[in-house]
Amino acid sequence: MKKTFIYLFFFAGVGLGSAAALAQSAADEIAKYRAMLADGNPAELVEGQGEVLWKQKRGPNNVSLEKCDFGKGPGMLKGAYAEMPRYFKDTDAVMDFETRLVHCMVNMQGFKREEVIKKPFSAQGERATELEALTAYAVAESRGSPISVPQNHYKEKAAYARGEKAFFYRGGPFDFSCASCHSTTGQRIRLQDLPNLQDSLQAQKAFATWPAYRVSQGAVRTMQWRLNDCFRQQRFPELKYSSQTSIDLITYLGVMAKGGLMDAPALKR
Ligand code: HEC
Repeated sequence: MKKTFIYLFFFAGVGLGSAAALAQSAADEIAKYRAMLADGNPAELVEGQGEVLWKQKRGPNNVSLEKCDFGKGPGMLKGAYAEMPRYFKDTDAVMDFETRLVHCMVNMQGFKREEVIKKPFSAQGERATELEALTAYAVAESRGSPISVPQNHYKEKAAYARGEKAFFYRGGPFDFSCASCHSTTGQRIRLQDLPNLQDSLQAQKAFATWPAYRVSQGAVRTMQWRLNDCFRQQRFPELKYSSQTSIDLITYLGVMAKGGLMDAPALKR
């Protein structure tokens, strides 16, 4: 498994004809599949589950999430996701969407933090977790909004700077950084296109389309999941849900994606 992985990586890297042709046909197939499904993204079902959960009075405090403040004021969800991570005065911290959601479930609804984040991602074939469903619902409220992750407060700037450092930090058995896979245009791995996240158009597209319904997994996946999975690709220790490093990296990606228009939940391979 490891051998194939390295082999394909370099194979694709030097761009030998047959690998490129194979990758192209895989990309074509994926594009066709996407077109077939374009009228009905299964993420909509999950959004629906999320909306019900969002508006339900829940938790020990028996309140809904409708008054949660995602940076635009209590209950103002429209466009909020597109401007996160951002600094919150009440916690004196920069928070990405999912971290803020956990915050509201704990502080408004009274759930226990350990319980809320115990299993953030559904396993293949399982019903979406509450965090996945709630996130799918909320991000859809930002569809069409310009990505504008703020860089005003010094803690927002610090999060970006740490995120940038993390992006270029090399380590693990292959000495990979995020940049190893995501700073060259046209690079591929196992027939998948690797977006160049240093390129503003590709960065915009990447940020705008997460969370996404992953066809290959039959599930809605969030940005926290995306990074968790890339840590795995990088052979790094597991990225903790809602950890500082996750927030920093999302801040970095979001700032790089400035000006893109949110288009999530999207549909992905
Ligand atoms: C070993 C290669 C590798 C490394 C290292 C890696 N990734 Fe990825 N990344 C991938 C693959 C593969 C995909 C999925 C491409 C696909 O599904 O089409 C991906 C997808 C992504 C996406 C979503 C792009 C999109 O348009 O959907 C983001 C964002 C991302 N990675 C960020 C990161 C960050 C941040 C790091 C460092 C913590 C990182 N990646 C490290 C291989 C890697």
